[in-house]
Amino acid sequence: MQLPDGIDQILSSQEEIKATIQRLAAQISADYEGQEVLLVGVLKGAFIFLADLSRQLTIPHVVDFLSVSSYGATATTSGEVRIIMDLRTFIRDKHVIIVEDIVDTGYTLSYLQQLLGARKPASLRACVLLSKPDRRRVDTPIDYLGFEIPDHWVVGYGLDYSDMYRTLPYIAVLKPEVYLESQ
Ligand code: PRP
Repeated sequence: MQLPDGIDQILSSQEEIKATIQRLAAQISADYEGQEVLLVGVLKGAFIFLADLSRQLTIPHVVDFLSVSSYGATATTSGEVRIIMDLRTFIRDKHVIIVEDIVDTGYTLSYLQQLLGARKPASLRACVLLSKPDRRRVDTPIDYLGFEIPDHWVVGYGLDYSDMYRTLPYIAVLKPEVYLESQ
């Protein structure tokens, strides 16, 4: 297959992603049987994952989104997270699942767990497609996890480099020269 410029190799194919999302959706549907859940997508990266995950759930659910500041085109993060756009929904007494494309240092998910946890939901869990354990700086629970991956810059299926590559249907490793050039 001819890969786009800047892409080194495919890490997870469309088929692998599809099977993983079916597994996660089946697990969530079983765990929350008889209950309604609120899926909270973290923009922008989670929009494709959330769209596919939500359509595989067999339990009643609603979706909402929030946006936080994290790092942009650089590979570093300060650990400071700010909320840019909050939820429309009041989450008190609701079963909330944070849906993230990737957990890297863990700062973003940890911040969101504290922020949303303080609003007294009935329960709060996290469903994450990708985790880079080697990069973790803070311990943060992930209740439903797709893949653990090595420390490469990955793009596609919602993940970007400078807002590019988000709509690739697979998850791919970016060539280091792409991001090293901008540093
Ligand atoms: C990514 C990802 C997570 C965060 C994880 O977002 O979607 O929200 O980084 O990193 P952390 O574990 O080190 O906190 P990004 O800042 O790339 O924004 P985007 O989702 O809009 O692409």
